[in-house]
Amino acid sequence: MNPFIKFPALSFQEVEISTNLKKVLKEEEQILEKFKSKKRQLEFRAGRTAAHLALKQFELESFPLLREDKGNVIWPKHFTGSISHSNDLAVAVVCKKEDFSAIGIDVEYLKKDINDSIFKKILNKAEYPSALEEDKIIFFSAKEAIYKAVYSKTKVSLGWKDIELSRNDAGKLIANINKNSINIENQEIFENRNKDYIYTLALLN
Ligand SMILES: CC(C)(COP(=O)(O)OP(=O)(O)OC[C@H]1O[C@@H](n2cnc3c(N)ncnc32)[C@H](O)[C@@H]1OP(=O)(O)O)[C@@H](O)C(=O)NCCC(=O)NCCS
Repeated sequence: MNPFIKFPALSFQEVEISTNLKKVLKEEEQILEKFKSKKRQLEFRAGRTAAHLALKQFELESFPLLREDKGNVIWPKHFTGSISHSNDLAVAVVCKKEDFSAIGIDVEYLKKDINDSIFKKILNKAEYPSALEEDKIIFFSAKEAIYKAVYSKTKVSLGWKDIELSRNDAGKLIANINKNSINIENQEIFENRNKDYIYTLALLN
C-alpha cells in the first residue's frame, strides 16, 4: 500500500525487514558491516532496498546511497528522498528536487510501547497533555519526519521542542518550527495509517 498515493511526484516503496533480503550495493554493504547489531544491519539493508526500488521510477536504481556523518543519505543530484524503519518495515520515498526541495518520512509501529515519560521529553507544553492519546505517537512520528526534511535542506538539527504541532479545524497537522537560525516557510505535514503502522511525511517547497 502506498500511503501517499495522492502525490504523483513522489515515488514510495516499502520492504519487509527480513534475513531473506538480497545484499545491497557493495559500497552500502561496507557501511552496513560497521553496525554491530544484526537488527540494525537488516534495517539498513531493507531501507536501502526500498530506496533503490523507489529510485527505479527514475531509472536510478543502481545509484549507491552513501551517507554523511549525521546519518543522512546522499541522494543522486537533482533528487531528494528519505528513509525510515520500524518493527519489521522499511519505507523510502524519493522525488525530483524541482517538485519538493526536501522530504522527510517516518513510519512507526503502532503497537510500540512508548511510555509517558518519553512523550514528555518529545512533546512541548502546548502539545502535552493537550494532544489526544492517539495523537502522541503521530506527533512523535511527524517530528522525526520534519527533522529529516529540515536537516536534509538546511543541515540544521532540530530538537524535539523546536517543533510545535497542532491541528487546524479540519484536523490537518500544522507545524511551527521555532529555530531562529532557519526560515522554513512552505512546509506541509501529511499522515496516513493502517492497522499496524502510522506513516508521516514532511514536504518542503
Ligand atoms: C534522524 C532521526 C530523527 C531518525 O530517527 P530514527 O528513529 O533513528 O529512525 P528512522 O528509522 O525513522 O530513520 C532512520 C533513517 O533516517 C535517515 N537519517 C538519519 N539521520 C538523518 C538526518 N540527519 N537527516 C535526514 N535523514 C536522516 C537515515 O536514512 C536513517 O536510516 P539508515 O541509517 O538506514 O539510512 C534520529 O536518529 C536522530 O538522529 N535524532 C537525533 C536528533 C533528534 O532526536 N532530534 C529530535 C527530533 S525532532
